[in-house]
Amino acid sequence: MTVTEAATLIEDLAAVRQRTLDLVSHLPVSDLERQIAPIMSPLVWDLGHIAAYEDLWLVHRHADQPLLRPDLAALYDAFETPRAVRGDLEILDHADALVYMEAVRDRTIAAVEAHGTDPVIHEMVLQHELQHTETMRQAMALAGLLPPGEPRLSPQRGDGTDRWLVVPAGTHALGAPPGRFSYDNERPRHAVDLDGFQIAQHPVTNATWLRFVEGGGYVRREWWSAEGWAWKEEYDITHHAGVATGPADAPVCHVSWFEADAMARWCGARLPTEAEWEKTADRLDGVGHVWEWTASPFRGYPAFAAHPYREYSEVFFGDKHHVLRGGSWATHRRVATPTFRNWDLPERRQIFAGVRLVRDLEDPTS
Ligand code: AVJ
Ligand code: FE
Repeated sequence: MTVTEAATLIEDLAAVRQRTLDLVSHLPVSDLERQIAPIMSPLVWDLGHIAAYEDLWLVHRHADQPLLRPDLAALYDAFETPRAVRGDLEILDHADALVYMEAVRDRTIAAVEAHGTDPVIHEMVLQHELQHTETMRQAMALAGLLPPGEPRLSPQRGDGTDRWLVVPAGTHALGAPPGRFSYDNERPRHAVDLDGFQIAQHPVTNATWLRFVEGGGYVRREWWSAEGWAWKEEYDITHHAGVATGPADAPVCHVSWFEADAMARWCGARLPTEAEWEKTADRLDGVGHVWEWTASPFRGYPAFAAHPYREYSEVFFGDKHHVLRGGSWATHRRVATPTFRNWDLPERRQIFAGVRLVRDLEDPTS
């Protein structure tokens, strides 16, 4: 380790922390400590969890020291303590969470000074905190608690169905290149053969989504998958309120995979596969405003190897979750790389997710 590397890391950690604390600085303690929705953690849980994660990886595992608060380990372990029960736990209150965050940070700085930096572990911990500030924004959005100026979604030049980028058949090297930080689920990079396709130049807008609504999108059965229709019927789902209240020319946000899948079929289109999305990511407008649902279930790439944090992705692999790509207005650029894979259940609408459409190429012989 060079002294510069350690100094840069400590500065980066401090900047990320300031950003986290600023996010909630306008909130009364009562809003920080209550559970906003069963699928979300109380905001103070995120704060304690961020610190517990840092202590686990940077102090305990990286520098081989005992945890500062072993009694808190299970409470702040996302796996052992699911979100639904986080409102009933004896977690740290706001004042104690702040003290804990600072105490862990002091240990981290000492550990970095004594043991040096590990580029993978340190990037992972930094990005973990950045990712949690998006989760916190999801909870804040549900409760109408976002800070002034958010959400940051502005009008775009296309409606999501009017301009298409034509991509001939070919291969794509799917996944992260070696030599920079990436999560295990982005590796190994491997070639995928693709038929020709066309992909929308923009994400679908609120105005386009309203046309789907007015065309019977939530009333007619034919565009929906069986699971999507059953979900819609059971929970009386109709379009998210923001579709009508948001700017007409801004990307639609808070749509579930089920709705995105149905809307695409209404349009004579479909959702992109991950490989189609990634192949064209650098040529698309509007990437990074809303997460973009893909048709792909969240699975390991061929020859996947979990490292270093097994519970990050491997435990979610299978057919239950779908992959989202690109990032939202709430995603820090350090996280939102062109190969980053986000995932969620098909019924979820708390995420800042919209849709970009794909169509097959016309049969070239006809
Ligand atoms: C990548 C956003 C799906 O929130 O479950 C945070 C990120 N993992 N702490 C999640 C994560 C562990 C993860 N997502
Ligand atoms: Fe986490």
